[in-house]
Amino acid sequence: MTGKTLLSTHDLKARYGDFQALYGVDLEIAEGEVVALIGANGAGKSTLLKSIMGLIKVAPDMVRLDGRAVGGSRPHHMVADGVAIVPEGRRLFAGMSVLDNLRVAVDHAAPGRGDVWTIERIYALFPILREKQAAPVQSLSGGQQQMVAIGRALLNQPRLLLCDEISLGLAPKVIKEIYQSIPSISGNGTAIVLVEQDVGLAKSASDRLYCMLEGRVTLTGRSADMSREAIGEAYFGASHAVA
Ligand SMILES: Nc1ncnc2c1ncn2[C@@H]1O[C@H](COP(=O)(O)OP(=O)(O)O)[C@@H](O)[C@H]1O
Ligand SMILES: [Mg+2]
Repeated sequence: MTGKTLLSTHDLKARYGDFQALYGVDLEIAEGEVVALIGANGAGKSTLLKSIMGLIKVAPDMVRLDGRAVGGSRPHHMVADGVAIVPEGRRLFAGMSVLDNLRVAVDHAAPGRGDVWTIERIYALFPILREKQAAPVQSLSGGQQQMVAIGRALLNQPRLLLCDEISLGLAPKVIKEIYQSIPSISGNGTAIVLVEQDVGLAKSASDRLYCMLEGRVTLTGRSADMSREAIGEAYFGASHAVA
């Protein structure tokens, strides 16, 4: 990792009642860096994002932002501190137009970063949203809705954007359109964590990669240096690796 650490997790453990989902995760992300988070279903990727975002209660020292202990902070405090999430399943306001969905985020933006992201710039990033701005969000295609979800998170003016499976269920052409926006976003100095099931996509879109298995990080390093064998072993566990 090069550059100044923006956010880090330290021996992060998370539970749902009696069920332990994360067993001591250490993750680090620098300013403007793109980190991919891969792993099979149930590995704990969403739980990690939710723990960072304050959607799951964790101990203060388990999450640090600019070196400050922020674990367990309420989600709106994390947003105010510059962390935004594109949640699994998008969670847009049905019955509201594209533009109104975006306006809600403008009203909840993190202060102090100026207007790096404006609705105009979201339209420049995803031109189809300008055409559809008056349409109710539920009338949009899945890919277009995902663009609204990303736009809404960006309008929070994040320094760190957490994306939970933004390509899930979308057609390859739309996935490509959405992933083409990643360099423009990180180029603005916004760090990105991409949870992604498609390993090839995760690798090509990121600077560094973390692989999780059953609540633990099993592999981390520069994405360009990772072999398919190493990823396969980390993804499925050594016992499942093909000899
Ligand atoms: N709300 C919940 N209540 C209980 N267990 C959960 C809940 N959400 C996730 N889990 C469990 O936690 C583990 C990690 O889930 P998750 O973080 O969603 O994995 P991933 O995003 O990598 O697919 C899984 O075993 C899952 O069944
Ligand atoms: Mg998930």
